[in-house]
Amino acid sequence: MKSNKDEFNEIIHEIIEHPEFQRRKTFKHHGEESVYDHSLQVSYLAYRMAKKLHLDAKSAAIGGLLHDFYTTPWMSAEKAKRFRDMHGFVHAKQAYQNALKVFPQYMTPKIKDIITKHMFPLNINPPRYRESWIVTLADKLASGKVFLKPKDLPMYIGIKKRKK
Ligand SMILES: [Fe+2]
Ligand SMILES: [Fe+2]
Repeated sequence: MKSNKDEFNEIIHEIIEHPEFQRRKTFKHHGEESVYDHSLQVSYLAYRMAKKLHLDAKSAAIGGLLHDFYTTPWMSAEKAKRFRDMHGFVHAKQAYQNALKVFPQYMTPKIKDIITKHMFPLNINPPRYRESWIVTLADKLASGKVFLKPKDLPMYIGIKKRKK
């Protein structure tokens, strides 16, 4: 029988080997962590949780991998924007549009829901699938250090500019 690690690698390898995904190694997420590392972490966490609950672990893994697949590294690009145009509100939609362009073969209604709703409750519509809730939770857990300093939360979720 296949181990979880082997099965997980089988699900994600085509995506992570793609140059466009590899480029996320140069995108800073929070602190020193790259978007590449963060996405892998969320993906694996979501995969394991979905497995435990006997849900669709493949969709959780792929949705987790592509949930932050936006195009511009926001930490460096965040200029003075209107509040509702700030990263926290727009990047989930951007990530989906980009994922649709680069990996159309993986985009299902469920994976679309996972990616576009992962910032809930910032986006008003709640996730529709249990796998979407799992990725939302995995994302927040993976960024867990954030909650040690609640006053930094607005910056981490992208509704406040990064401190110099
Ligand atoms: Fe995100
Ligand atoms: Fe994230």
